[in-house]
Amino acid sequence: MLNRKDLLGLIDASKEEITEILDLAEEFKQRIKRGEKKLDRLSGKTVTVLFYENSTRTRTSFEQAAKYLGATTINIAAGTSSVAKGETLVDTGKTLDAQKNDFIVMRHPMGGAPYLLAKTVKAGVLNAGDGMNEHPTQALLDMLTMRETFGRLEGLKVAILGDIKHSRVAKSNLFGLKTMGAEVRMFAPETLIPKGMDKLGAKICSSREEAVKGADVVMGLRIQLERQQAGNFPSLGEYAANYGVDEKVFALAKPNAIILHPGPVNRGVELTSGIIDHERSRIEDQVLSGVAVRMAALTLLNEARNNGEATK
Ligand code: CP
Repeated sequence: MLNRKDLLGLIDASKEEITEILDLAEEFKQRIKRGEKKLDRLSGKTVTVLFYENSTRTRTSFEQAAKYLGATTINIAAGTSSVAKGETLVDTGKTLDAQKNDFIVMRHPMGGAPYLLAKTVKAGVLNAGDGMNEHPTQALLDMLTMRETFGRLEGLKVAILGDIKHSRVAKSNLFGLKTMGAEVRMFAPETLIPKGMDKLGAKICSSREEAVKGADVVMGLRIQLERQQAGNFPSLGEYAANYGVDEKVFALAKPNAIILHPGPVNRGVELTSGIIDHERSRIEDQVLSGVAVRMAALTLLNEARNNGEATK
């Protein structure tokens, strides 16, 4: 049972908690595919979506998820709120609490910001990406797409290639996939792999071929141009030629392997266009998994609140 007030990361999520979210998300995904988008699991509740960073997928899918569940949704972009006048995160949280919001979905450029907000407010907080720390619902939607394809997560070989250093997606996937019994391989230029990933359970590979060979899942990560310091790699062209995934590299994966990317993609950099649009690409399916996973997370956190079981 997801007996939590907040969903902040997968670092401490158990196999049972992840399985419960994925099971419910799978059910919701089937319902969405059948056009059943009106559920009342959150009717009478308010979900505020508070983003201090740009987003397309995460913001819209959380909003869609809350609407499909029958909640009232409020969208706050930091640039147009009192944050722009200097209001602190704690004071913003207190204001949202005073308005009796039930859930706050927050994206913030500082790692740890959702933990501070969660301590401040009575509302449940869902981390929609905090700096270079975690992006739990992204990893959950990635795992949903993998589990639907292969019927399991245990034993899968997942190769993650790209800007691992700046990636909250890589960390949440590593925590979640290791808990579920998958093997996580990572490859990037040395300047884009933080020290200690091996101690967290990742297998660090010395070439893209080593990472992809025999893999079930090949996941590209965006080169985060906005977070790069000069000198991490010579140029985007050289990155693509030496570290990117093209058809020749992907051919080393298992014949039924799938291609994932959390988006947004730098086309032709971390993945070639041929790989993005490949018949084994599940990038668009990931987007639908995102709505379903966020519906499941909101539903289960709400049940824990209603039942007085939100003990963590
Ligand atoms: N995957 C992801 O977080 O995408 P957005 O930045 O568009 O939300």
